[in-house]
Amino acid sequence: MKKIIEFLFIAMMIALHSYTQPSRQAQDSLRKLSEQDHKAMMDLLHIDSIRQGANGNNPNAPNAANYDESKANPYPNLPDPLTLKNGKKVTTAKMWWKKRHPEIVEDFDREIYGRVPKNTPKVTWEILSTTDTMNGDFPITVKKLAGHVDNSSYPSITVNIDLTLTTPANAKGHVPVIMEFGFIFPPGFRFPPRDTSNRTTQPPAPAGPTWQQQVLATGWGYAIISPNSIQADNGAGLTQGIIGLMNKGQRRKPDDWGALRAWAWGASRAMDYFETDKSVDAKQIGIEGHSRYGKATLVTMAYDSRFAIAFISSSGEGGAKLHRRNAGEIVENVAGSGEYHWMAGNFIKYAGPLNWGDLPVDAHELIAMCAPRPVFISSGEKGDGWVDARGMFMAGVAAGPVYKLLGKKDLGIAEFPKVETTLIDGEIAFRQHSQGHTPVPNWPTFIQFASHYIKTQ
Ligand code: GCU
Repeated sequence: MKKIIEFLFIAMMIALHSYTQPSRQAQDSLRKLSEQDHKAMMDLLHIDSIRQGANGNNPNAPNAANYDESKANPYPNLPDPLTLKNGKKVTTAKMWWKKRHPEIVEDFDREIYGRVPKNTPKVTWEILSTTDTMNGDFPITVKKLAGHVDNSSYPSITVNIDLTLTTPANAKGHVPVIMEFGFIFPPGFRFPPRDTSNRTTQPPAPAGPTWQQQVLATGWGYAIISPNSIQADNGAGLTQGIIGLMNKGQRRKPDDWGALRAWAWGASRAMDYFETDKSVDAKQIGIEGHSRYGKATLVTMAYDSRFAIAFISSSGEGGAKLHRRNAGEIVENVAGSGEYHWMAGNFIKYAGPLNWGDLPVDAHELIAMCAPRPVFISSGEKGDGWVDARGMFMAGVAAGPVYKLLGKKDLGIAEFPKVETTLIDGEIAFRQHSQGHTPVPNWPTFIQFASHYIKTQ
């Protein structure tokens, strides 16, 4: 008997080993390919080396992430969202839209997130299945959809956008929908080890309704889009996905789009679909995402004015946090070979020869691009230092003048508030919950905020 158990145990270990081994190898080869692509981009930019990122894992490391507020603002002067490049002040909404907004968009396109090609292909949406089922106590209709991207220009790359739309089955008319960038990873996917930086593991799901059930209870529907079905989350994948398709399998140019804009492009294609689906009120679509998808959420909202509201969760560096801040994650981390693919190649320059203060725009102007539409900036506290809640709050404050120029309310205060202070009276909303790197505790607050704007008929 003992022998049999021993045998079974060894057989199990061998099976487990051969199961995990290939994905580890695959991870290694992805990392190497990403490093090669990163190097190729640095060569294009004539950069030999970049500064090291902050270490979020070891507080004693020489490059340990900074959490000392007295050292967090080496570049305290932000570019003024309401001054034109020629020095003139922007004093009217018309000047904002005609003159300043295009300047800011151009800077973000060229230096930060990259340009979406003009001739992106047509996406044909197919309903794969429609199912009537339940979510908790709520009868729902679930549509599984595939957005087939026309690849006739380069047939060896196929892109099918994966989207699921759920609406209350008993809805009287069309309903508002909150769409989430879903953490849906291909089989075998693992976060690189550094990705657990400075945060606790995800807290267990609290008892109570899920965000989907909270949304359904308000009479709205929800949708989940899979970013990875649009563009892979690594540098190795830049010659594939929608970015690779547009470049016919070749590497990017320095101002080509990165994954964040590709994901946002996919979200806009989902919006195209919503505009054709009678069960959905396409004028009342919200977008939500957490962490890297919090960044994608802000980019989506900034670039596509059809989205009515955004829940930007723990977006940090590359999202709502000011690039000019030295707190938690910094520009150098995102410019490194593990994350640069989120951005335009040009972004790497600001971790190399240039510095954060050289960036022509900063995160407050990305928030300002969402104006006058409502945005909810969210973060956690303990274990979420990496995302620099204060740096995101400061960006929210600095976006305020644009919202006010467009007749809306700003955050109302400029002092960083105590944890769990709910600021939802204006169109720029903010709340730092007391838990870790998760959107969960802020869902009820977001729904309360969103209810000021989003109405069921
Ligand atoms: C890493 C990365 C962050 C990102 C996060 C995530 O921590 O440094 O920028 O937001 O992963 O997406 O979980």
